[in-house]
Amino acid sequence: MAPLVADESVSGLPLSTPGRRVVMLYVHVPFCYSRCTFCDWVQGIPNKDLLRRPEDSVRRSYIDAMCREIKARGAELRSETHTPYVMYWGGGTASSLDEREATQIMEALRSSFDFGGVAEATIECSPDTVDAAKLRLFRSLGFNRVSSGVQSFDDARLRRLGRRHSAEQAERIVYNAREAGFEDVTIDIMSGFPDQDAEELDATVAKALELPLSHLSLYSFRPTPGTFMRRRMAGVEKRDYLRKQQLLFTRARQAIHGSGLTEYASGYFGKVSPFAAMYFQLRADTVGLGSGAISLLDGRFQSHEKGRLHSYISDPLGFDIDVSAGQDRVLVSLLQAGLAMFDGVLRDQWRLATGTELAEVLTRPAIAPLAEFLRGRGLVEDERGIRLPRRQAGITLIELAFEMAMSQPEIG
Ligand SMILES: C[S@@+](CC[C@H](N)C(=O)[O-])C[C@H]1O[C@@H](n2cnc3c(N)ncnc32)[C@H](O)[C@@H]1O
Ligand code: SF4
Repeated sequence: MAPLVADESVSGLPLSTPGRRVVMLYVHVPFCYSRCTFCDWVQGIPNKDLLRRPEDSVRRSYIDAMCREIKARGAELRSETHTPYVMYWGGGTASSLDEREATQIMEALRSSFDFGGVAEATIECSPDTVDAAKLRLFRSLGFNRVSSGVQSFDDARLRRLGRRHSAEQAERIVYNAREAGFEDVTIDIMSGFPDQDAEELDATVAKALELPLSHLSLYSFRPTPGTFMRRRMAGVEKRDYLRKQQLLFTRARQAIHGSGLTEYASGYFGKVSPFAAMYFQLRADTVGLGSGAISLLDGRFQSHEKGRLHSYISDPLGFDIDVSAGQDRVLVSLLQAGLAMFDGVLRDQWRLATGTELAEVLTRPAIAPLAEFLRGRGLVEDERGIRLPRRQAGITLIELAFEMAMSQPEIG
């Protein structure tokens, strides 16, 4: 098969062309061992489903249903026109899968898609769900990158966040992953909790920088409705809190820069992850598999909505949402994601993925105010695409996410 077209000018990563789509396979595992107080990935999933363990019969039916979806969708996509380049298992907590489940899913994927061109395969982990043996299993299944949620290296903070692991366990996962043969190991840390001070964050950043990581992600807490932490924020003064979030993020970022790790997207440091670049810049179409997964494929936005485990099990091929990717709501979220990457939103990839022209989109009544806001923050617009200046991107995106989250009413 002919090689994919590489983008010589920037990263050497492949680009989709009209006749040949680069594909990202995303597998969604909607289970965790606990619900964290800050997490906005699992709202909408009732506890009784989120916390199901591998021996649970509903969870078994879910894995079977996901394998049916994998096989059916693999059969639909011809590898000459849709070539998998990256794979990512996320969630929820992908590493909560046991050996039988992970092997069953991987076998279904390998028998349904052409893995010959897959350059990066990431498994998302949380430190309470993996030990050295499980990491060796993931390596033997073909993963080459581990991404672990850590959030903090402060034990008291971890307890308040509802995490089931200690700072020491979070540290150990990095060494265990290295010993299991993973060269690419990344962790997530977070800044900007309402009661966090600079010293606490400094200590977490310093600990992260001591570890043998190829990549580090820094996320500023989004106060999304439905999270336990947002419910506890009733008395917080909005403007002061936003300013504090921006200051903490900037402080952490500067410390990470000082260590020599390069930032290529807002809060993403180290070796450029093909997954991140593909996702942010729409260099790939996404085939999202499982309950809660989103697909952006051939100009359509399709999703199995979160929290609908039982309807997914009975019909894993039916989407809850199946609309043109050119809809305003979809485009706003794609713009936000794209601007995280310092290289920005690429006009050609945008057109291929969404079927719309970026210039036209920025004039739409529902999107023009956002475009004006971004221009006020120094948005660069040229032939290649649009992007935010490096120094502004992080704090601008924090402000956007903050305003969006705070403008929504609290749930329940
Ligand atoms: C889907 S979660 C999975 C990680 C894995 N389950 C774990 O907890 O270790 C991915 C990452 O999103 C980040 N995250 C979750 N909720 C967030 C929020 N409200 N604001 C900002 N980042 C958040 C966390 O850093 C988390 O590690
Ligand atoms: S942060 Fe991870 S473990 Fe915690 S609730 Fe969210 S997805 Fe689950």
